[in-house]
Amino acid sequence: MNFRPGLEGVVAVQTKLSDIDGDNGKLIFRGYHADQLAKQYNFEEAVHLLLYGRLPEPLELRQLKDKLAKERQLSERLKNLMNDLPEEMEMMAVLRTCISAMESQPAWPPTVEEAIRIIAIIPSILTYRYRQVNNLDPIPPKQDLDHVANYLYMMKGELPKASHVRALNAYFVLTAEHGMNAATFTSRVITSTESDLFSAITGAIGAMKGPLHGGAPSEVMKMLHDIGTIDNAEPWLRKALENRQKLMGFGHRVYKTNDPRSVALRDITGDLSTEDDWFAIARHVENTAITLLEEYKPGRKLYTNVEFYAAAVFRAVDLPEMLYTPTFTASRAAGWCAHVLEQAENNRIFRPLSEYTGPVKLK
Ligand code: ACO
Repeated sequence: MNFRPGLEGVVAVQTKLSDIDGDNGKLIFRGYHADQLAKQYNFEEAVHLLLYGRLPEPLELRQLKDKLAKERQLSERLKNLMNDLPEEMEMMAVLRTCISAMESQPAWPPTVEEAIRIIAIIPSILTYRYRQVNNLDPIPPKQDLDHVANYLYMMKGELPKASHVRALNAYFVLTAEHGMNAATFTSRVITSTESDLFSAITGAIGAMKGPLHGGAPSEVMKMLHDIGTIDNAEPWLRKALENRQKLMGFGHRVYKTNDPRSVALRDITGDLSTEDDWFAIARHVENTAITLLEEYKPGRKLYTNVEFYAAAVFRAVDLPEMLYTPTFTASRAAGWCAHVLEQAENNRIFRPLSEYTGPVKLK
């Protein structure tokens, strides 16, 4: 068999969790279009779909929400651990350390209850740490708020606007799962050794932390900030393309048409655009860039990817930049957990081959 760098084009796993149709711009979670889920359902319902295989009945949803709310409380052990970590330690490293420290008596095979513990606790870890390094008092979770609303509440200490919850909820649903990306693959490889869920998620966070993966939309934000005004969009973008720069938030390895997540986030953030001129600039940059990309990169089919409108959502809800990649992790943890459960259900240890390229016959 030929060596495929980065396993590109290799089907390594069979899954019932998601299907990405890059040519037609479709993303399916267990038979449902992700963009429709993001518009009609909340994150807890998407979590139920991923973990249990179907959307919940009202009573099942209530039970899942209650379980998630109960597991939000940070233990003294995790708080003490975070208090002891150096202030300069980056948020993804803090999160990785905390999830690793949660393991006491992990189960094999991993359980849905463990998955719920992990999904529930991530926003509490992130907001506790965010407030700690900013010398702000921690905000305990509010049991009667849904997952995403409670995340914003623990961050800011005030009840979030419904429009902000709706936008961030859509982001959480849309990014909860996305096929065999590097972090998800990592979680499945770790599980395949019959290690535990906490190790698998710790490893996935380690993979997500790399700049080629977590790909926080900070670069999009920086680009839009540099452009600054509608009038400056075309000259700025033209100059960037003439200098062979990549436009941030455009292009995707798999999607060769619109990224359905980007389209859904653009629709959902539409009603926020009245609050902030920045959205008008973002739309103008999108339209101008697509026209210019056709001119400078004919036939490459480059459109906005999820990062472009994730930047819009994060800006709208006033998410601090240190929480960009960690917030992506908070949503994607649902997909990782579902993959770990699926891997454990029908396990075979990963053991690909390597091709020796070193010296031969030295003696
Ligand atoms: N701006 C300008 N040109 C681009 C862009 C872009 N954003 N993306 C691709 N191209 C061009 C390349 O220069 C190349 O042109 P060439 O054939 O003349 O050399 C051609 O399109 C193919 O590009 P590749 O880099 O080979 O495409 P690939 O599928 O490997 O890359 C990637 C996908 C990495 C996302 C790329 O489009 C990119 O770097 N985009 C900008 C960064 C970005 O937005 N990252 C977030 C991705 S979404 C996510 O990670 C969740």
